[in-house]
Amino acid sequence: MSEGIDQATLRALLEWQLEMGADAPVGDAPVDRFALPERAPWSGRAAAPAPALAQASAQARARERPSAAPAAPAEDDPVLAARRAAEAAEDLEALRAAIAAYPHCELKKGARHTVFADGRPGARVMVIGEAPGREEDREGLPFVGRAGQLLDRMFAAIGLSRAAPDPEAALYITNILPWRPPENRRPTAEECAMLAPFVARHVELAAPELLVLMGNTPAQALLGAAGITRLRGTWREVLGRPAMPTFHPAYLLRQPAQKRLAWADLLELAARLDGGGQA
Ligand code: URA
Repeated sequence: MSEGIDQATLRALLEWQLEMGADAPVGDAPVDRFALPERAPWSGRAAAPAPALAQASAQARARERPSAAPAAPAEDDPVLAARRAAEAAEDLEALRAAIAAYPHCELKKGARHTVFADGRPGARVMVIGEAPGREEDREGLPFVGRAGQLLDRMFAAIGLSRAAPDPEAALYITNILPWRPPENRRPTAEECAMLAPFVARHVELAAPELLVLMGNTPAQALLGAAGITRLRGTWREVLGRPAMPTFHPAYLLRQPAQKRLAWADLLELAARLDGGGQA
């Protein structure tokens, strides 16, 4: 055992890391730590089960299949109702209205705002986070609190901004859930499955070239895989588009040493936008 740290503390640290998704001691791809900068450029300090989407589609298909048992009417079935409403939305404003009118998610009752998106639709890069926090719920926009400020600095370091009018330099930002969970708790699998059809339609209508999945919740919901520590840094395919899972900025605020890895992910994103990047 390490000197000065008792067993209970070590256990608590390990549990916390597992909760953050650190379920493997090493990544799949080698990381050349000598090639990584000492500090991420946006860093203020020295660096020291099935996807909700697939689950939602399978559930909705099963419910649409004729069966001996009488099916619940579509308007009573949360996933099917979300799917129908999402598919009927012909543009982003219609989708925003459809989400705001969706009656099946209890989180809506405790939220001040339906947090839909920020940035420029048509941007080459779309960021998908977890859910609004206190500031986002108050302002009705995603990623405006401390984590959002870090997110802005991170993307500014590769020349992208939600305020940029030019789609080449713009970002478009949304979350898996549009309503703040109480006490900022993790979204449940049921909530993610319920809202997944809206996220899928959102991506379709915003039509980005690349997706960035920030943290475990979007990775779990869209890739069906937990463990952002293992998933990050490698391109995956989500909804027919290349997607880069990376650390959530709120996690980076707690774990600044990991900013170097997040910076490596952003450099990979920038390389892909420039026509290079991983094969
Ligand atoms: N964290 C998120 O995942 N999304 C937000 O909008 C704010 C914080």
